[in-house]
Amino acid sequence: MAIRDILVVPDPVLKQVSQPVERVDDDLRALMDDMLETMYDAPGIGLAAIQIGVAKQVIVMDLAGPDEPKQPRYFVNPQILTTSDDTLPYEEGCLSVPDIYDEVERPSKVTLKYLNYQGEEVVEEAEGLYAVCIQHEMDHLKGVLFIDYLSRLKRDRAVAKVKKQARAA
Ligand code: NI
Repeated sequence: MAIRDILVVPDPVLKQVSQPVERVDDDLRALMDDMLETMYDAPGIGLAAIQIGVAKQVIVMDLAGPDEPKQPRYFVNPQILTTSDDTLPYEEGCLSVPDIYDEVERPSKVTLKYLNYQGEEVVEEAEGLYAVCIQHEMDHLKGVLFIDYLSRLKRDRAVAKVKKQARAA
């Protein structure tokens, strides 16, 4: 396993649309292992492959609290089947937009379908933080960032702040 570099805004690669994966094989599992290690190292709770520059429909996630055992989740070719009418506002952040947090409102419950680490198809419901996180990560696969939901002013300010931090680093 290896820790990869996480791309940050305004890197144009983050705007790329990710492609479906043809087969869940050992090469893909190696990518998922790297993604998980990179996410834990950051640290973060979710990471899409495009954030390390790989335009494949792959997401890793771990929503376990700091004192809980690790609970890694892997999503290949995820699809949202249904979304609830009611929405949940949540203060989101993103490893590609470091140190910026703002509220985004999304459906509070979704049904999703994906392939897991073994390549098995899973259909399940997600709500609460899980629903927020999977929708945020699936947006990455479409080249969409959470700051794209904010006002132009807030978005520009967020990107400027990240650029400034990058220069200072
Ligand atoms: Ni993100």
